[in-house]
Amino acid sequence: MPEHARIRSLEEYHEAYRRSTETPEQFWAEVAEPFTWRRKWDSVMNSDMAAGHNDWFQGARLNITENCLDRHLSTRGNKLAIVYEPNDPHTRHLRLTYRELHQEVCRFANVLHNNGVEKGDRVCIYMPMIPQLAIAVLACARIGAIHSVIFAGFSANAIADRVNDAQATVVLTSDGLNRGAKQIPVKRVVDEALESCPSVRRVIVTEHLGWPVHMQEGRDVWYHEEAEGVAKTCPAEEMGAEDPLFILYTSGSTGKPKGVVHTTAGYMVWADYTFRNVFQIEENDIYWCTADIGWVTGHTYLLYGPLLAGATSLMFEGVPTYPSPGRFWEVIDKHSVTVFYTAPTAIRSLMAHDINHVLAYSLDSLRVLGSVGEPINEEAWHWYYTHIGKERCPIVDTWWQTETGGVMISALAGITPSVPARAGLPLPGVLPVLLNQDGSEIEGNDQEGYLAIKQSWPGIIRTTYGDHERARQTYFAPYPGYYFTGDGARRDENGLYRIIGRVDDVINVSGHRFGTAEIENAINQNSHVVESAVVGFPHDVKGQGIYAYVICPEGVPEAEVERQRIEASIIETIVAEIGRIAKPDKIQLVSGLPKTRSGKIMRRILRKVAEGDTTNLGDTTTLLDPLVVDEIISGRK
Ligand code: WT7
Repeated sequence: MPEHARIRSLEEYHEAYRRSTETPEQFWAEVAEPFTWRRKWDSVMNSDMAAGHNDWFQGARLNITENCLDRHLSTRGNKLAIVYEPNDPHTRHLRLTYRELHQEVCRFANVLHNNGVEKGDRVCIYMPMIPQLAIAVLACARIGAIHSVIFAGFSANAIADRVNDAQATVVLTSDGLNRGAKQIPVKRVVDEALESCPSVRRVIVTEHLGWPVHMQEGRDVWYHEEAEGVAKTCPAEEMGAEDPLFILYTSGSTGKPKGVVHTTAGYMVWADYTFRNVFQIEENDIYWCTADIGWVTGHTYLLYGPLLAGATSLMFEGVPTYPSPGRFWEVIDKHSVTVFYTAPTAIRSLMAHDINHVLAYSLDSLRVLGSVGEPINEEAWHWYYTHIGKERCPIVDTWWQTETGGVMISALAGITPSVPARAGLPLPGVLPVLLNQDGSEIEGNDQEGYLAIKQSWPGIIRTTYGDHERARQTYFAPYPGYYFTGDGARRDENGLYRIIGRVDDVINVSGHRFGTAEIENAINQNSHVVESAVVGFPHDVKGQGIYAYVICPEGVPEAEVERQRIEASIIETIVAEIGRIAKPDKIQLVSGLPKTRSGKIMRRILRKVAEGDTTNLGDTTTLLDPLVVDEIISGRK
């Protein structure tokens, strides 16, 4: 494993941290040194936080896949790059060495070329968690096409929104996918989406389930037919440091999901540096990140980080509970996984099952455990630590965001403090601050405030696709000079950070991010709906659940069956607009919403009711109609 810029002790952490803040340019130049550069940079960091301009390694030329693949061939050509574990434990797993992966990526890149894809083109990818997905993503990067992976649980409408925003010309998909006991006709969803996507001229379909699919003449081609006889070498396109590498859509407090843009050099350096240091990766590790490549965690810590580091990354197609709640632990034993990275929601859902599902496996290979996506509650932390890590594996609770490209605040496994319910200390290069509402910095420990970042770092979001002003407004304008995270945090008496949760109208359901406005917009598409208000509420397994208050045109129907019919119809609309993952846990039909005289919905009250805390609703005197509150309380789900 590259020892370069590797932190091995607490003293080394403090030293690296000090240098990264005092002389960041020198620090990052040293970290970036050993990568394969076609040309080195003219300057390391150019940042104007207030304008939202952040350039890293300006002037450098490179291709990230040369760093993920070619660079390792002489020393790790026969080392496993990807181990694929399918949904069904009885189907054969698959392993790809670095040499094989290199060949497959080159071949796919040639197929893309042959289908007219060029540098800078946007390619949307809607595929199952199979090796071909990883290959497709890297193939885009190989030829300089900008990939935009769409999680294969989003609906046709959600795909269309993303494809149209990115103006993608090509879509990569498959015939179908497995998810636990279910099989989903992925190509059919894409077909439906593309009815409203005029920019798309080519769809390349990978065969996975062997299902018959409709192939549109002149638009759709099978990958295996296109790949026949195609060369397994492909020169890597030379990219500028700040050329976009990918777009990944994520929800914010307003409007439609935005396309977060990451670029080439800074993202690469950040992915590799954070991956090796947070997980303290060793040459023989079998590393498993359970996230889907459709989310940023899959981008940085299933694909790019591990491959940049020359590690072996396990890719799992299935779900934690299929065919049994012991599936994760079975996979760990089967492949001798040493580093395991998952989400608190998965841990909480598995905790609820008989402990014998865990005890049936040895889990002896494990060395490091990771958590990501939302705050991990103490109970889940202890269960993870005791039953999975057998009290010998440090837990890294990694706080970061789609926009940060990689981990920002976390323990470095076994090196910096790992305390339940604390993400811990910032990584080198990360300067977190706590801000007051007025934007002033809160000094000292044992303090709480808005979490912001004071200095640029290599993985920082560059823009939101096609709309830089939106990025500036969202992240850089709220507190000029800082990157605003949208999270609240506490710095404890030892200076460790504890993430409290979002301070904006973003909710985090099973580690998936939704804007309340986004769900409301979906609900409002339903003809039974006049207006709606969505809030999050604490949920034992999901972290937060979705609670929707909905006003119907004819008021609240008397009959229970009629109410159920409307609720079912609303759910159908949400599934069509966004996808099953945004299904509300509770829908309450109401005749009105608590509004101020100026017409603003008092979400604070709705949140309290959803939480079940109706004793202390605070000041309701400014409400237009205080009686609505009583109705809402009495009809609470
Ligand atoms: C939001 C970002 C980045 C990986 C997956 C989620 C929350 C994420 C933690 C953590 C507390 C966390 C924050 C953040 N979050 N990790 N370890 N502790 N909160 O990425 O979809 O961009 O969501 O997830 O609220 O702002 P994302």
